[in-house]
Amino acid sequence: MEIGSEFYVDYANIDKVYPQKLPSWLKKYGEITFTNSGRGALRLIAQILKSKGLESIMVPSYICDSVILPILAEDFTIYYYDVDKEFKADEDKILRKKFDAIIVIDYFGLNTETISIKTLKKLKQQGVILIEDTTHSMFSKTLKRNFIDFYFGSIRKWFGLPSGAFIGSNQKYNIEKNILYKVEDRRLKALLLKNEYIKSGNETKEQFLNLFSEAENYLDNDSDYYRLSNLSKKIVLNVDEKKLIAKRRNNYQFLLQEIKKIKNEDLSIVFNYLNDDDVPLFFPIYHSNRDELRKFLTSKNIYCPVHWPIPEHIQGKDRKKSAYQYESIISLPVDQRYDIKAMKSIVEAIEQFND
Ligand SMILES: Cc1ncc(COP(=O)(O)O)c(C=O)c1O
Repeated sequence: MEIGSEFYVDYANIDKVYPQKLPSWLKKYGEITFTNSGRGALRLIAQILKSKGLESIMVPSYICDSVILPILAEDFTIYYYDVDKEFKADEDKILRKKFDAIIVIDYFGLNTETISIKTLKKLKQQGVILIEDTTHSMFSKTLKRNFIDFYFGSIRKWFGLPSGAFIGSNQKYNIEKNILYKVEDRRLKALLLKNEYIKSGNETKEQFLNLFSEAENYLDNDSDYYRLSNLSKKIVLNVDEKKLIAKRRNNYQFLLQEIKKIKNEDLSIVFNYLNDDDVPLFFPIYHSNRDELRKFLTSKNIYCPVHWPIPEHIQGKDRKKSAYQYESIISLPVDQRYDIKAMKSIVEAIEQFND
């Protein structure tokens, strides 16, 4: 059994019905505009802000490269606010600085409140535009910050999808650019091949891995926004939200309970809680031998991402506090594909590595 890595899509399961209504997990973000990718969604937001004369954006120092690229592409000045080991920012420092917009994140789907609601409200009063990246927290149940100007998020991190992201704001935007077929087609083919591989173990692993990686390379070189295909939209609108939430929460809680029992000074849990409204993306742990642990888990067919490789645009001085996260976090899969049996194999593999 293989655990983690890219999702897969079963063509037979793509519902024939195309719902007219947005599901509640999306609707809570206001008027929805679909785009092909998270970076594309942010690029469109950046363009809108640029056209209004905004020039600078504050970004957390613990972040993925693909959030920085679209802002740079629109010629914004970027300032970073550092995020400490508790995932908190220095709010006084932020309030002392002058800037036009800020991006906030609830990491891994937990209610990290990296910047408090009180401070965000102060910034809003000062005319700062608030942008929330919901890529990690998209399914968390309540909307904690109903005064946000723009939400965006990459939906493909949550289930099998050729392409998909959204912007939520007080209006809908028209996307005239065509579908980015070179990514959409490759990812669809890869998702279908992986589905066959998972179900019947055919020999296509190399082929779908190449397709996924080609698609990712295209995206890495193109942070523009494109229209989302009807097929991707259909998968988004039909996702089984209840199952997704229940399984992820259940798996997370199991890992929390079991990993707590492992006594090893190299390992610690990043978030010792799961609030009622939280829907986790992964179960992150700190490990002082992270890269070796990752290799070992790969040898056991457990594929864990690292959030994140250090973005080349963030200088060491800007990420002094978040250095620990960059060096030590490894993310264990808890998604809806898996049940407790899979979670047990993850725990066993970590125990074996520690022995
Ligand atoms: C927090 C966060 N926001 C946005 C993105 C960009 O999403 P996409 O890969 O769909 O462009 C990523 C990608 O990993 C991400 O981790």
